[in-house]
Amino acid sequence: MFEEAAETAAMIRRQAGIVPKVALVLGSGLGAVADAVEAPQTLAYRDLPGFPRPSVAGHGGSLILGRIAGLPVAVLQGRAHYYESGRADGMNLALAVLKELGCARLILTNAAGSLRADVGPGRLMLIRDHINFAGVSPLFGLAGNARFVDLVDAYDPAARAAIVDVAGRLGLPLAEGVYVWFCGPHFETPAEIRAAQVLGGDAVGMSTVPEVIVARLLGLKVSALSMITNLAAGMSAEPLSHDHTMQHATAAAADMARLLTAYLETLAHDGPEP
Ligand code: HPA
Repeated sequence: MFEEAAETAAMIRRQAGIVPKVALVLGSGLGAVADAVEAPQTLAYRDLPGFPRPSVAGHGGSLILGRIAGLPVAVLQGRAHYYESGRADGMNLALAVLKELGCARLILTNAAGSLRADVGPGRLMLIRDHINFAGVSPLFGLAGNARFVDLVDAYDPAARAAIVDVAGRLGLPLAEGVYVWFCGPHFETPAEIRAAQVLGGDAVGMSTVPEVIVARLLGLKVSALSMITNLAAGMSAEPLSHDHTMQHATAAAADMARLLTAYLETLAHDGPEP
């Protein structure tokens, strides 16, 4: 389906002597997680055909290959957002390349607004399911029956249980819930937030969902974690801004790094096929 991916994967293989098993996508302010990569080899997206050209402050635009807790990983620092281009397929090729390189599993992270007053800024939320409020698909225009992707258990249940377990062991409070994807780049209105709450959402954000959809098409096992940077629009007196998101993202990034590192450690111990 994504034929160009093989070529970019071959190019990466020539430059990096590592076969990544797990891919991680880092959201706004989560660059610190990249510091956990041992013996990192960094490739700029601009040198990788098919990789995005992120335009958001706090999104680096590099692919880092190395090990975390002994596990070979590919870390994507920076992602394409739907709101940058009006296209939801900006990550399709990059994810196909990661699959081609050997990744069987994808872990997505993002910054999100909370729909729950009891889960405030600085908290982490494991995504259990999503609602596609943007109403578009990264699979628009693809042909063939594979495009009719089943999204039941899109967020790997076994991985979710393992991550909850790890958080418990670390004593890290971890919420679990439904992520509602809004198109951005504007924040939501208070009325939209009330609607998302009524529909069963727990957090809102502008990313991740298209990546989950294409990853499931590719057959990758998917997990996703949100770092709550704010209460959603209308829920608090604090005005929303990207700067505000970044401030809270940086504060909670250390918890995210701890959780991810400890989880990857369990995958490393589970054997060669994480
Ligand atoms: N809404 C959408 N995206 C976000 C938010 C929000 O409140 N916070 C961080 N990313």
